[in-house]
Amino acid sequence: MTAKKEKFYITTPIFYVNDKAHLGHAYTVIVSDIIARWHRLRGDDVFFLTGTDEHGEKIVKAAEEKREDVKAFVEKLAGTYKSCWKSLNISNDDFIRTTEKRHEDVVFKFIEAMGKNGDLYKGEYEGWYCVPDETFFTDLQLKDGRCPVCGREVQRLKEESYFFRLSKYQNRLLEYYDNNREFLSPNFRSTEIINRVKGGLKDLSITRKSVKWGIPFPIDRRHSIYVWVEALINYLSALGWHSEKEELFWPADVHMVGKEINWFHSVIWPAMLFSAGLEPPKKVFAHGWWTVDGQKMSKSVGNVVDPIAMSGKYSVDALRYFLVREIPLGDDGDFSEKALGLRLNNELAADLGNLAYRVLSIAEKFDGSIGGEPELEASLEMEKIVDDMQALNLSGAIETVWRYIKACNKYVNDKKPWELKGKELSNVLYNLLESLRIISILISPFMPDTSEKLNLQLGVGHGTLKDAKFGTFNGKIKKGEYLFRKIEP
Ligand code: MSP
Repeated sequence: MTAKKEKFYITTPIFYVNDKAHLGHAYTVIVSDIIARWHRLRGDDVFFLTGTDEHGEKIVKAAEEKREDVKAFVEKLAGTYKSCWKSLNISNDDFIRTTEKRHEDVVFKFIEAMGKNGDLYKGEYEGWYCVPDETFFTDLQLKDGRCPVCGREVQRLKEESYFFRLSKYQNRLLEYYDNNREFLSPNFRSTEIINRVKGGLKDLSITRKSVKWGIPFPIDRRHSIYVWVEALINYLSALGWHSEKEELFWPADVHMVGKEINWFHSVIWPAMLFSAGLEPPKKVFAHGWWTVDGQKMSKSVGNVVDPIAMSGKYSVDALRYFLVREIPLGDDGDFSEKALGLRLNNELAADLGNLAYRVLSIAEKFDGSIGGEPELEASLEMEKIVDDMQALNLSGAIETVWRYIKACNKYVNDKKPWELKGKELSNVLYNLLESLRIISILISPFMPDTSEKLNLQLGVGHGTLKDAKFGTFNGKIKKGEYLFRKIEP
């Protein structure tokens, strides 16, 4: 009997189409891609979703500034996201846009379900609004009269609005957090959320009468649905309302998000799902920010790094590797080309590139049959890698792979294969070629291009996680170029 495949559903936030993607955006998508690829390697049935958030005031303003028609503007920007993710080798299974009909259809059904549950009512909103963050704030929440998240100016709002009874779900949320200790991840960010929820939840204004660029509120079409409420529903609308796909993939296994949007995903979204009679996701993982000289990378600060320019200069895989290796997932990190260059030279070129080149050069000239005893296997900390990947400790996992690469390089230095012949050489090559084959599997989620190149040089096919152990080496060596070239500092 074959075991049933496990399903795995991972999402990225959907990106505002007010401008093209910068490195901070690329980061969310790259880490999600690595996790999705890892689960495919395990043989899971994976659904990996990304997309664009196309409604709301912020987008209208951006289009107006460019003097473009908003529809044409979002169309163009959504296209730039798609092509950017393609260039970065992102393996998403779907790309949802909130201006698509399939999204709107599910949003209506969702809102109706919330209404049927008695969770929506009409009232008046009075308070502050930050357009760049599309977020409401109370007087108390403001910091020196400005947005507490981005520090920009806020506007005063006073208008008729429909509300969601978020307050009703306080206890249910706290219970859910308590029973699902993995939900609020990383753990060090959970206390803040729990304390805020314990402090009390105010009902949420979920419609805007003055915003026209949005999905109409089905209960009163003079209003449009608050962009965040509608955007969160993308995670379901990509599956279809009560569809087979929803049955298979919902609840999501991981919503990967940046820390500034954790509240929406960890509090508002699960409460909305409770209200609509659906299960909350299993995990919301809030990662940190990339900064430049200590300041969050963002369009308004004017310090954004272009992921396409970086990948063009250093290679897509060097960029992907650097972003996950440099900071533990969850922490903030400062971006610099110097740090990227150092990792490219010292780790990708000197450790991995060199190992492959040295081994393949000797193996290509060897005409005996390759076989022996797996002497290097003990250095491969497979369990640790698997555990770390499962815990989303991506930097830990790749670091452990690197320890193995270093162990292989040391083995080459100790065994001096260039001085060996016959059976002894066959044994050393067996260990090193099998190691390279396994390394290629393990790095494939992080650096898919490099893994593919290495497979071609080894003359082996794509492996799965099950193949990441010593067996017989059946490749046909065809040494190619160095996997990575050093760059001038
Ligand atoms: N549209 C909302 C998300 C809706 S999800 C239902 C949004 N969009 S965004 O384009 O502003 O941001 C998308 C993602 O990019 C967020 O996860 C955010 O944290 C991430 N990043 C934006 N700047 C970043 C850095 N400087 N560093 C790391 N990630 C950052 O929010």
